[in-house]
Amino acid sequence: MKRRRFFIETHGCQMNAYDSSIIGEALKRCGYDEARNAAEADIILINTCSVRERAERKALSRLAEYNAMRTSNRHVRIGIVGCMAQRLGEELVKSKVRPDFIIGPDAYDSIPRVIEDLEREQLPIVNTYRNSSAIYTFRPSRYDEVTAFVTIMRGCNNYCSYCVVPYVRGPERSKPYREIMSEISHLVHLGVKEVTLLGQNVNSYNDGEVDFPRLLEMVNEIDGLVRIRFTTSHPKDLSQRVIRVMRDLPKVCEYLHLPLQSGSDRILKLMNRSYTFASYCDLIASIRSAIPDIALSTDILVGFPGETPEDHEATLRALGEIRFDSAFMFKYSPRSGTVASQLEDDVSEEEKIRRLNEVIQLQNSIVDEKKRALVGKNVEILVEGQSQRHPDHLYGRTRKNWLAIVPSKGVSKGEVVVAKVTSATRWMLTCECTSKKVRA
Ligand code: SAH
Ligand code: SF4
Ligand code: F3S
Repeated sequence: MKRRRFFIETHGCQMNAYDSSIIGEALKRCGYDEARNAAEADIILINTCSVRERAERKALSRLAEYNAMRTSNRHVRIGIVGCMAQRLGEELVKSKVRPDFIIGPDAYDSIPRVIEDLEREQLPIVNTYRNSSAIYTFRPSRYDEVTAFVTIMRGCNNYCSYCVVPYVRGPERSKPYREIMSEISHLVHLGVKEVTLLGQNVNSYNDGEVDFPRLLEMVNEIDGLVRIRFTTSHPKDLSQRVIRVMRDLPKVCEYLHLPLQSGSDRILKLMNRSYTFASYCDLIASIRSAIPDIALSTDILVGFPGETPEDHEATLRALGEIRFDSAFMFKYSPRSGTVASQLEDDVSEEEKIRRLNEVIQLQNSIVDEKKRALVGKNVEILVEGQSQRHPDHLYGRTRKNWLAIVPSKGVSKGEVVVAKVTSATRWMLTCECTSKKVRA
């Protein structure tokens, strides 16, 4: 009999990408193979995000598109998993396009049972139970990439007033450090050279024995691992010890994602972010004094309830002063159940768009300047694979997380090369290889 196949479409953050790998492994153990596309799959899963309304709308429209693929002779099963599954649960069963199964982020250990039920046609299946100790470990038998995400903690206790994550992902919990170490060692054994440690707030990692800076030190000792990244850091928990450890550990990349959200203290307070713009700047100053050439990235949220033109100006000033190397910029979207959703969403849609565009334009001009200044400089690239757009080039990332391409000749996936930047756009550095540091 032909083996059945699954296809997973992933929305949202890197933690969802990690979870999709976990789900994929579970399905393989149930006898399914990964399909190349949705059209040839017997089971389609959409791993969803709830952080903004748009993300949920997108997932629902994808559900409708996949649903339209069902025909009398095509018996495809469609599931909604992830954050929107958790948030809407039973409600999805009542919606116009009904998925066959719905699994929340704490319930992925139920996948073998879900598969049995699917095969017995016991539909729909809704597993959105909360399990505040749910922690998963990714141990694939083969893995083709040189970089990997490793979730070190799940959930969030911060309750930023605009954010739905604590409600859909549950309370913060840290994965035992031994699990993390053996997971990373296993991945390195399969050819991984770079890991990104994931959590909503990695700096508060603590499994009862090991805290975040200690974990970084331990991961740094893993033979064969070349680079370590981590995300996300909350400014309130990024300690001087973490900064020292980042400075001292050779494998930890000179890159830090530190969401600012707003440059206005009044808005930061309403957001429940527990820092002021001045204290954020002090933190940036100590990071830059410890690691002068660090690349900094951030998240900016415009149009929070009550944000005045002055508050918005403060955010623009903040971007101009700090000069982030990259930024993810969003307009506020009220999420039901959050504290901010009780405030009047009083910045009009047009004004939100105007402010967002202003922020994007300013940030783009900063990135363009920074990129131009890189031409002629040497960067270190971990080569990740064949470039799609440039057939005779391989792509990879610099330690500072810039995307870069080098001519393929004499260079292989998994190698770390030193290369000279010959030209730069906002998105891409084009480089010439000058030497090799680590062979594949
Ligand atoms: N834990 C991380 C990331 C959370 S979600 C952190 O603390 O930064 C990623 C980003 O989405 C947030 O940083 C925020 O900028 C944005 N975001 C969260 N809720 C949002 C909402 N309701 N509307 C618009 N953007 C939102
Ligand atoms: Fe959301 Fe704040 Fe937690 Fe980040 S730290 S996930 S923004 S509540
Ligand atoms: Fe979205 Fe869930 Fe991540 S809400 S941002 S996918 S934790």
